[in-house]
Amino acid sequence: MKTAIIYMTKHGTTEKIAELLKSKLEPGQTQIFNLKKSKLIELDNYETIIIGGSIHVGSIPKKLRHFIANNMTILLKKRIALFLVCMEKDEKRDEQFNNAFPPELRKVSMANGLMSGEFNFDRMNFLERTIVKKIAGKSSNVNEIDYDVIEDFIKKLVKN
Ligand SMILES: Cc1cc2nc3c(=O)[nH]c(=O)nc-3n(C[C@H](O)[C@H](O)[C@H](O)COP(=O)(O)O)c2cc1C
Repeated sequence: MKTAIIYMTKHGTTEKIAELLKSKLEPGQTQIFNLKKSKLIELDNYETIIIGGSIHVGSIPKKLRHFIANNMTILLKKRIALFLVCMEKDEKRDEQFNNAFPPELRKVSMANGLMSGEFNFDRMNFLERTIVKKIAGKSSNVNEIDYDVIEDFIKKLVKN
């Protein structure tokens, strides 16, 4: 069964997770697309579509939101899984997830991954460093990637 993993990343964490997902899914059947670099993705070629993005200052990238909105009709005919990468926890993370993906897509999603990410200061510009210091009180690298959460996400995908 062919799977497309479509993602956007700013500092590489969502990409790292997308690649990890690919490595755990059926070899030769899974393709990965960085939406920033991919011109046209032939969604018709895939039965399963996994969509992932990270939160920056409260939301996922505009390009990912537009991709979802522009392809909603076809996405609703697919097996869908959604994952969000962010640093907030609990209710705030749930809220960010709910704001990131439209309700009709969340309703049909067979796996929702709410995943912790990283603060990668080496890849941030001055403004981003200042924002992270202000909103999260951090000024050095933090890695909170939880591989158990990623495994659970894959299990749900494979089971459904
Ligand atoms: C400038 C900046 C703003 C961020 N804002 C939020 C936020 O509002 N909520 C949140 O949960 N995480 C926030 N994060 C954390 C990111 O979601 C986290 O760094 C994630 O791993 C980024 O993934 P990416 O490298 O794939 O873009 C922010 C990170 C940066 C650098």
